[in-house]
Amino acid sequence: MLGARGGWQALRRCSSLPRAVRLRVREALGARQPVDEVKVQGWVRSVRSQKEVLFLHINDGSSLESLQVVADPSLENRDLTFGSAVEVQGKLVKSPHKRQNMELKAESIRVVGPCDTWSFPLKMKERHPLEYVRQFPHLRCRNNTLGSLLRIRSEATAAIHSFFQDNGYVHIHTPIITSNDCEGAGELFHIETSNEARESAEKTHFFNVPAFLTVSGQLHLEVMAGAFTHVFTFGPTFRAENSQSRRHLAEFYMVEAELSFIESLQDVVQVMEDLLKTATSTVLSKCPHDVELFHKYIRPAQKTKDRLEQMLKNKFVTISYNEAVEILKQASQTFTFKPEWGCDLQTEHEKYLVKHCGDVPVFVINYPYDLKPFYMRDNEDGPQHTVAAVDLLVPGIGELCGGSLREERLPFLKSRLQRLGLADAYQWYLDLRKFGSVPHGGFGMGFERYLQYILGVDNIKDVIPFPRFSHSCLL
Ligand code: 4AD
Ligand code: MG
Repeated sequence: MLGARGGWQALRRCSSLPRAVRLRVREALGARQPVDEVKVQGWVRSVRSQKEVLFLHINDGSSLESLQVVADPSLENRDLTFGSAVEVQGKLVKSPHKRQNMELKAESIRVVGPCDTWSFPLKMKERHPLEYVRQFPHLRCRNNTLGSLLRIRSEATAAIHSFFQDNGYVHIHTPIITSNDCEGAGELFHIETSNEARESAEKTHFFNVPAFLTVSGQLHLEVMAGAFTHVFTFGPTFRAENSQSRRHLAEFYMVEAELSFIESLQDVVQVMEDLLKTATSTVLSKCPHDVELFHKYIRPAQKTKDRLEQMLKNKFVTISYNEAVEILKQASQTFTFKPEWGCDLQTEHEKYLVKHCGDVPVFVINYPYDLKPFYMRDNEDGPQHTVAAVDLLVPGIGELCGGSLREERLPFLKSRLQRLGLADAYQWYLDLRKFGSVPHGGFGMGFERYLQYILGVDNIKDVIPFPRFSHSCLL
């Protein structure tokens, strides 16, 4: 997004030129003084023609607010409709209206691309429900709600990168095509070339081994944490969970961090809490109007706003898995899945625990050994045998982050992999424990669930740029 300062530098550079200065809508709205010759390009959000004056609002995606254009009715033209692309030249002047700072007095209006308003699925001044615009994945970004969402997504991405860069982490591009199933849950998309798909009889693999889309960059990050100490990745992640739930996607973005030389799980927990607080306050301060749109109109989201304020002010709660199961067993609520030690926490359990703890983020630590993937560090604590795992549960969503200490001790890791029949495939991973192994750990945060959490969005499909309805619909 363009900062006002960038625009003014451009203005100064061009001030000796007779040509009009091109401004983004955001820059024009934020201008502190009138400018004689400006050019603004965008899409028409409203047209209102009066006897003596023609009003337009144009938007170019740089802000939620549109720029008001005031023109002589003689500039009206048949193609100047809602949705059309226009280029307006004129004078940027102080607006007499209280609700806006500047407006553009048009001297010329050129319709760059007309829009057939009858067949255009978005209608002027209508607040279309999210379910409605989801049907038009190629057009919904021209709607206010999705415009705000995508600007917030962009700022949140930058805020997450800044958090890690400011704290000395090295950003690593981990592979998207890989042969490992980090989580061991078998939720992998298998990839093959189009030739392989045809020659099913004598199968030869492009990479000589089966290849999958990554379910997590963690194992690759562990490699890098053995050289750079603190690393992170933030990229596309794929899970073939056959779930159409409001918090699952087949393709999503995951933020992952890995830290070497840590002393306890608490070190990982602290980074999770710091990341969530820092990224959220940055997003709230960088795009207040976009966030406000969600908090005001998308859901009874006063609740979301209050929750975020509480989250930013207070320390997150930590409970053990054992305590979580006890709380659930004593709950007056009846659950579809009966809470039992050794069973995974279901979304209904996670939501109950968050409420029980005061509607604040809750870390649940030390899960049963048998529930968790091979890489988690053994707490050696019988008879209720656990690993040093942590999940962060948040209001309205349930699990937002998952992490752990990693098993850095060669004998422990080797015997666990041998029991799983994976020791050969993970020889390279065992090597990391032979050559300068250190206590380390990390976590992953689902980026879309994070956006759902801070904006109070119920369906995960509404926080991605291109929604998918079913397994057969890809844009
Ligand atoms: O808990 P998960 O499976 O953890 C890992 O993959 C670890 N290897 C991460 C690490 O330690 N580096 O996934 C992490 C987070 C979840 O808590 C959830 O927020 C999100 O990724 N996630 C999904 N988000 C949307 N759709 C899905 N299908 C998701 N699966 C996981
Ligand atoms: Mg998890």
